[in-house]
Amino acid sequence: MLLIISFIIIVSFFFLLFSLYHTIFYQKLRYCNCEICHAYLTSSWRTDFVNLSDWYAHLLRLSPTSTIKVHVLNNVITANPENVEHMLKTRFHNYPKGKQFSVILGDFLGRGIFNSDGDTWRFQRKLASLELGSVSVRVFAHEIVKTEIETRLFPVLTSFSSDSGSVLDLQDVFRRFAFDTISKLSFGFDPDCLQVPFPTSEFAVAFDTASLLSAKRAMAPFPLLWKIKRFFKIGSEKKLKESIDVINRLAGDLIMQRRLTGLTDENQDMISRFMAVVAEDDDEYLRDIVVSFLLAGRDTVASGLTGFFWLLSHHPKVENRIREELDRVMGSGFDLATASLVETREMVYLHAALYESMRLYPPVQFDSKFALSDDVLSDGTFVKRGTRVTYHPYAMGRMSRIWGPDYQEFKPERWLDSEGKFRPENPTRYPVFQAGARVCVGKEMAIMAMKSIAAAMVKRFDTRVAGPGATTETALRFAPGLTATVNGGLPVFIQERKA
Ligand code: HEM
Repeated sequence: MLLIISFIIIVSFFFLLFSLYHTIFYQKLRYCNCEICHAYLTSSWRTDFVNLSDWYAHLLRLSPTSTIKVHVLNNVITANPENVEHMLKTRFHNYPKGKQFSVILGDFLGRGIFNSDGDTWRFQRKLASLELGSVSVRVFAHEIVKTEIETRLFPVLTSFSSDSGSVLDLQDVFRRFAFDTISKLSFGFDPDCLQVPFPTSEFAVAFDTASLLSAKRAMAPFPLLWKIKRFFKIGSEKKLKESIDVINRLAGDLIMQRRLTGLTDENQDMISRFMAVVAEDDDEYLRDIVVSFLLAGRDTVASGLTGFFWLLSHHPKVENRIREELDRVMGSGFDLATASLVETREMVYLHAALYESMRLYPPVQFDSKFALSDDVLSDGTFVKRGTRVTYHPYAMGRMSRIWGPDYQEFKPERWLDSEGKFRPENPTRYPVFQAGARVCVGKEMAIMAMKSIAAAMVKRFDTRVAGPGATTETALRFAPGLTATVNGGLPVFIQERKA
């Protein structure tokens, strides 16, 4: 026993020495007392700003190049469209996710598309684009969304509507909706989360914890700390490991079930399609592929809808214009109907309103890559090899240089031309779905789902924010995470509309 303890102490000692050496010589233990770094390290920015992203947006607006450096994080942050074009398109190969990213997210996402570069990424990208672009998968996805709206969402909203005075957390409803639908699409498995009294799903909780704790790793100014905690399996790292174990166990069970039932024509989910091309003995890889899909499709759609309904609640004129369009496209009346795929494509004003809401509240507020070699960005910023370079959609949506002096206004009309047709923006100016070779592959599906849900709800229900922020549009407060999540949710009153 004594021998084992001594062995553990010696190994731990050498690990600590190695980590310190690695941090000092490779990651460089950074200390900087410039105004930005000092405010970051002491959190003094909180005196004037509710969210870190609001503070960054403020600094980026002040910067003549729309670019800043946070030295302690070895992080260049930009809201300059030319820099975004440079890193995501022109010099794409110099800005991979990188080893640093894969160390941070590797335990959670493994070799999944979000966490890979090179051939591993290319293989998954090709397959994902092929699948998500196919008509049969789009029809399958619409069918899943329609069923969830009609059999789960409507009953929940109706029950809260008749129970006048009850407050419903709409963010939670959207997260449950998205988890049910993306699980069905990815695994062919229905976690059945969206129903009163809102059951706790072990899978969803583990997923949230893993996502939150992985994001916290990425924000740590001293990564050595979480690495030590991981080595000793203590604190947040112990919790992260436990959550990942739950995800692995459940995903493993689902993969095994699929193997047992075999691949039939009825199995249209992503895992069945990936199974046909991934080596039979590599279930871990299959798990990684599908977990990335769950992450990609779940929180993003829910987050986009939360921002949308928050804004809509404060802009009744926009809501009325959406209703006029819905009456024109789907017919008047308050039927329990879901828009067809063709109808969703005809909803131009709703499309514009969703794009506009994601300009102000993008589900992915910032996204980082790591420079492979020394480089100079389009605005002249020098980037040393290994530096983290972040483009910031949240800040970019709040730049007068991009959107004009009325950038703070929620104005879907800015997306329409003089004939009322949708006017797309260059993705390097609006990188809400990223841009270039790694642009989101689920964009069309996400928009279809968001339009279907928004149309169904706006047509049939009045939704008003309850509690703080009910009367005035105060700033939303976000919790740390890989995707934007509103702290405390979005409490609303729901009222069924009557003829
Ligand atoms: C409003 C909803 C969505 C938004 C705002 C969004 C945004 C993004 C962004 C910013 C990225 C780049 C992330 C990075 O490289 O780190 C991305 C990548 C990706 N998204 Fe989405 N996404 C949404 C919905 C979806 C959905 C529903 C799916 C799948 C069904 C999906 C699948 C993916 C995949 C697989 C990637 C990785 C692409 C690659 O690395 O080549 N997304 N998305």
